[in-house]
Amino acid sequence: MAKRIAVLGSTGSIGRQALDVVRAHPDRLRIVGLAAGHNWELLAQQAAEFVPEIVSVESEADAARLKVRLGDRVKVSAGAAGLNAVATWPTADLVLVAVTGTAALVHTVEAIQLGKDIALANKETLVAAGELITELASSMGVQLLPVDSEHSAIWQCVAHRRSEVTGIVLTASGGPFRRFSREELQEVTPEAALRHPTWKMGPKITIDSATLMNKGLEVIEARWLFDLDYDRIEVVIHPQSIVHGMARLRDGTVLACLSSTDMRLPIQYALSYPERWEALADPLDFCALAKLTFEAPDRERFPSLDLAYQAGRAGGTVPCVLNAANEVAVTAFLQGRLRFTDIPRVVACIIEKHISKKRPSLGDILEAERWAREAARAAIERMSQC
Ligand SMILES: NC(=O)c1ccc[n+]([C@@H]2O[C@H](COP(=O)([O-])OP(=O)(O)OC[C@H]3O[C@@H](n4cnc5c(N)ncnc54)[C@H](OP(=O)(O)O)[C@@H]3O)[C@@H](O)[C@H]2O)c1
Repeated sequence: MAKRIAVLGSTGSIGRQALDVVRAHPDRLRIVGLAAGHNWELLAQQAAEFVPEIVSVESEADAARLKVRLGDRVKVSAGAAGLNAVATWPTADLVLVAVTGTAALVHTVEAIQLGKDIALANKETLVAAGELITELASSMGVQLLPVDSEHSAIWQCVAHRRSEVTGIVLTASGGPFRRFSREELQEVTPEAALRHPTWKMGPKITIDSATLMNKGLEVIEARWLFDLDYDRIEVVIHPQSIVHGMARLRDGTVLACLSSTDMRLPIQYALSYPERWEALADPLDFCALAKLTFEAPDRERFPSLDLAYQAGRAGGTVPCVLNAANEVAVTAFLQGRLRFTDIPRVVACIIEKHISKKRPSLGDILEAERWAREAARAAIERMSQC
């Protein structure tokens, strides 16, 4: 029987590639729910093709337009209630969480409470609420299936040998400014930062890749997915993005997972798990790969990485605050209101002001996030105070 899937964020980069995977495996995967933000026209096309049972968009006005386009064939919902209805849709076996930010956090918690497996592309979920989500998933017997390419790679390396793993290595492309001086980094524009050298992704994650905050968020995500101390999680710059993740074993062996830079691969593995299906991506051509290189990240020019390690080690509500302040700062940078090098400055400033709460409840996390967003917006207005 086909696996029944609800996609949160179907119109985004991950969502569209997930639908490519579903399109390639119509007998194995069936779409029962699709949720999007503002791109109701693309959602209408997706609904016409995949015929889900429910769709949702952010605004009531777009929902009304969708209803006209789709007629009575599909239930149409809107807003947070709509996103929740798709996440908790009764016939869905698995929910792919591919919205940006923490908009789907509460709905993901509810989907887990209902026993639905979660394919997790959204890294902010585990960054903000890693302890809560992993404990809940484990108590409900729910699988958290990583979609992020690095975590998917490490997941495959550590499978069936958890007790032999002494550490993991996340690779990072290093972004477009790997070789930039401090002075050059100050002048970076949003247009330049949005041109990622190896991956095509949504705007927020592309900026995070350029600051290395993306890797920092992935370190925190890995801590929860693989239950490892931060001392055992390394980051290495690998500009070719062919080795996605590695595991160090007790006897000194290192297992690596390699593939082409195509997100449909990890998306498909999360949807097909525990099976492996035919590839959508081209096979790796080793002779065409000139070289694979590795180098240490420059933690001074790219302070976001260490900010994330520090926030992860501090625990409690600090990682949530790191993530929320970063999101506000990235938005301000994209709007031309903040310099590239001020993004980590704002994040550090907000973390410093925050009074953390240990073992936070969902309510504590949402409150910390609200506070961090407000504090970050105010700090950006008055940058001299940071
Ligand atoms: N792209 C990648 O290669 C990649 C790799 C690893 C992990 N991730 C993670 O996956 C997540 C998605 O990334 P992306 O690159 O796919 O982002 P994206 O292209 O910006 O897409 C975001 C999606 O979320 C929807 N959305 C945003 N806010 C929403 C809300 N409040 N309610 C309902 N839908 C909402 C958007 O809808 P509209 O477009 O209709 O407004 C869109 O479908 C992020 O957490 C990112 O860190 C991405």
